[in-house]
Amino acid sequence: MILKDKIRQRSARVGVIGLGYVGLPLVTEFARSGFDVTGFDIDAAKVAEINAGRSYILDVESREIAGPVAAGRLRATTDMSHLRDMDAIDICVPTPLRKTKDPDLSYIVKAVEAVRANLRAGQLVILESTTYPGTTIEVVQPALEGHGLKAGTDFYLAFSPERVDPGNATHSTRTIPKVVGGINPLSTELACDLYGSIIETVVPVSSTQVAEMVKLLENTFRAVNIGLVNEIALMAHRMDIDVWEVIDAASTKPFGFMPFYPGPGLGGHCIPIDPFYLSWKARQNGFECRFIELAGHVNASMPEYVVERIGEALNTAKKAINGSRVHLFGVAYKKDVSDTRESPALDILELLHRRGATLSYTDPFVPKLLHGGLSLCSVPEDRADGVDCAVVCTNHRSFDYGAMVTRFPLIVDTRNALKGVPGAHIFRL
Ligand SMILES: NC(=O)c1ccc[n+]([C@@H]2O[C@H](COP(=O)([O-])OP(=O)(O)OC[C@H]3O[C@@H](n4cnc5c(N)ncnc54)[C@H](O)[C@@H]3O)[C@@H](O)[C@H]2O)c1
Repeated sequence: MILKDKIRQRSARVGVIGLGYVGLPLVTEFARSGFDVTGFDIDAAKVAEINAGRSYILDVESREIAGPVAAGRLRATTDMSHLRDMDAIDICVPTPLRKTKDPDLSYIVKAVEAVRANLRAGQLVILESTTYPGTTIEVVQPALEGHGLKAGTDFYLAFSPERVDPGNATHSTRTIPKVVGGINPLSTELACDLYGSIIETVVPVSSTQVAEMVKLLENTFRAVNIGLVNEIALMAHRMDIDVWEVIDAASTKPFGFMPFYPGPGLGGHCIPIDPFYLSWKARQNGFECRFIELAGHVNASMPEYVVERIGEALNTAKKAINGSRVHLFGVAYKKDVSDTRESPALDILELLHRRGATLSYTDPFVPKLLHGGLSLCSVPEDRADGVDCAVVCTNHRSFDYGAMVTRFPLIVDTRNALKGVPGAHIFRL
């Protein structure tokens, strides 16, 4: 049976490489829609959790895994030779930056090597990892064709960016429209057929490069607008204007304005990283991305600014950072998630540590934190005692903000979590 029919009848076997924040929700969506799914990961602990029917990601409930595992429709493995049995393969591995801010494609390269070693005619391979325009045809395609099979005719190849937003209860893998670009029309069509079976809206585009650039435009748009609003926040503070009130009032305009909010800095595996994939590729083409560099500069300076504001707050009580007890509320990079990758809270902790503060934190999603020379455990919210200054770094919904206002002598609120609450001891960004 040809792949198109297998997809239509949901008898196609789907493999997902990389079972993280992107791969695991995708696996459950394929399983829910009746496909036979195999998850591939180099992390044996994740593989064991899935096979035991347990989720390790907040957005995925264990029952969404346990059901299909028990029914024999879902399994995970570290054995890449099973890729040969798959009809369609989705690659969802990390794409970090090197220290030099250059793209680190090593995870993609490793995953593609595993696919190539097991490639057979008729398979559909889709890259979902966020990357610079050209990766699919310049890096993935030549690597896969190394064994003599031709992309577009012997096997099919596409790029489809993942847009999942961890912690977002409104939009899920199923409801977020999926952009798809193949290396030729048949690859696009097959990839659209596959995603069309599990996702409400599929948006085909003319090439893999367009699909790759779509994702980078989306995340660059966020990074630049956050950079702009962070700069406006610094400016407003100098002018003694409440930036939060300004943004709220500007948001009443029914067209032409979209609110972005200042904060302690960028975090997560996307916004602080992805724009630099684009600027790197642009540089290869002799083009300098000034907006990206400038926004990166402003956003990266925010943790330092927050520490400066903590110093100002302590100063009002005739105290120095050195020797003061500073307690952070939230260390995850955004509210209601457990992900601490690139979290600005880590930079803030490190800067405060270097200045001699005694540090503690509360984060219900992050029980332990190892960063640089710091090793801390989350303190239950009601046991953060003897604190000189509390800092709201992440506005988790579960925090008791009302209690916070009366319990701590000084509060630096980087998220406007204490919106509208009066008090000379509250210092907003
Ligand atoms: N996290 C997000 O919110 C988000 C949103 C959209 C797009 N993305 C993009 O999706 C991609 C994956 O991100 P993520 O957040 O899911 O990463 P993650 O770190 O949560 O998961 C990646 C998984 O891949 C596994 N892995 C690494 N190398 C492998 C290999 N060679 N073979 C098999 N498994 C391997 C890791 O063990 C890990 O489990 C990245 O390119 C990211 O930019 C992430």
